[in-house]
Amino acid sequence: MTDTNPSSRIAGSTRRFLVTGAKGFIGAWIVKELVDRGDQPFIFDIDTESSRLAALLTPEQMPAIQLLQGDITQFRDVEKAIVDNGITHVLHLAGIQVPFCAADPLRGAMINVVGTLNVFEVARRRRDLVQHIVYASSAAVFGPEEAYGGGTVQEGAPLLPGTHYGVFKQCNEGNARVYFQNDGISSAGIRPGTVYGVGRDRGMTSGPTKAIKATVIGQPYTIRFTGGMDMQYVRDTARLFIRSAEAGLTGARLYTPRGNVTQVHEFLTVLGRILPLSQALIKAEGHSLPVAYDFDDSILRQDFGDINDTPLEVGIRETVQIFTRLKLTGTLDIKDLET
Ligand SMILES: NC(=O)c1ccc[n+]([C@@H]2O[C@H](COP(=O)([O-])OP(=O)(O)OC[C@H]3O[C@@H](n4cnc5c(N)ncnc54)[C@H](O)[C@@H]3O)[C@@H](O)[C@H]2O)c1
Repeated sequence: MTDTNPSSRIAGSTRRFLVTGAKGFIGAWIVKELVDRGDQPFIFDIDTESSRLAALLTPEQMPAIQLLQGDITQFRDVEKAIVDNGITHVLHLAGIQVPFCAADPLRGAMINVVGTLNVFEVARRRRDLVQHIVYASSAAVFGPEEAYGGGTVQEGAPLLPGTHYGVFKQCNEGNARVYFQNDGISSAGIRPGTVYGVGRDRGMTSGPTKAIKATVIGQPYTIRFTGGMDMQYVRDTARLFIRSAEAGLTGARLYTPRGNVTQVHEFLTVLGRILPLSQALIKAEGHSLPVAYDFDDSILRQDFGDINDTPLEVGIRETVQIFTRLKLTGTLDIKDLET
C-alpha cells in the first residue's frame, strides 16, 4: 500500500474517518460532505486517478484529504490504513457493481465479500480503535418486483437476489450480523437504490445520470432499461452514510432508503421540463430492472427521524448545473457515454 501524503493527522479530532472506495461516485460525495464541514478524512482506493474528487472539491480542499492507495482484498492494506491512522469510523464503499460481478464472479466475490470481511476483521482485532462501520449494501439484496407481488416491499421481506452482486451484498449483511453476535462489532448496512448525480458513470442503473450528461453536451443517449426505479440523490445518500456512522447505534443495522419512486418514462418527463432538448436526444428501451424499487423505509425513519429527501427535479437541476460548470471549464469527462 502506498501513502501519497506522509503527514500524520492522528492528533486532533476525536472521530477519524476512513472512506474506502472514496474515488468512486458515492465515496467522492461522502468525502465532499466531510471536507465541506471541515473534516479531514482518510481515503482508501485502488484507483490512481481522482477525477470524481477533482470534479467535486475545489483545488484548495484537496489537501484536506489524505490519500491512501491500497487494495481492499489485501488484509494488510486495510489493516495498515486503519491502524497507522488511528481510524475510529470506517465508511466502506469499495466494491464493483452488477455488470462487473456478472462478468467475473470470482473477482466480484474477492472485492465485494472478502474486501468487506477485511474491514470487519480489522475492526474485530482492533476494537480499541474502530468504533463503527457503515458499509454499502444494496437494494439488489431483494429480487424483482414480481417476487413480492407488486406494491411496497415491507421491512423484513425475504431477500431473493437474482444477481451475483446481490448475493454478495446479502452475504456481507450476514457476516455483519455474525460479527455483532460473536464479537460485538456494531455496523450499519445501507441499501441504496438508483443513486444519481455527478460522478455516476458506471453500473446497471447509471443510465439516468448519463442521460442528463448527454443532454448537457447535446448528444443522443439511450437508457438501457424501462419500468420502475427509486432515484436517490447522491448527496442524500452520502449524508445518510455519515449520519449512520456518527449515530453509532448498537447492532448490525440495515437501512433501505426510499427516495423518489418513479418510472423511467416519468424521469424523462421531468428531465424534459428542465432540459427540453432531452426530448429529442434521450430514449429508454429494454427490460425493467431485476430489483424491486418500492420499499418501506420505516426502520430508517425510526432511527433517524427526518432524512434528506431531495425532490427529483431539484436533484436533476443541481446535476445539470454541475455538469454545465464542468463542461464550461473543459473538465467534463464524457468517456462513460461511449459505453
Ligand atoms: N451507485 C449506486 O446506485 C449504488 C446502489 C447501491 C449500492 N451501491 C454500492 O455502493 C458502493 C459505491 O458505489 P459507487 O456507485 O460509488 O461505485 P463506483 O464504482 O463509482 O466506486 C467504487 C470504488 O471502489 C474502488 N475499488 C474497486 N475495487 C477496489 C479494490 N480492490 N480496492 C480498493 N478500492 C477498490 C473503485 O476504484 C471505485 O473508486 C458500492 O459498494 C456499490 O455496490 C451503489
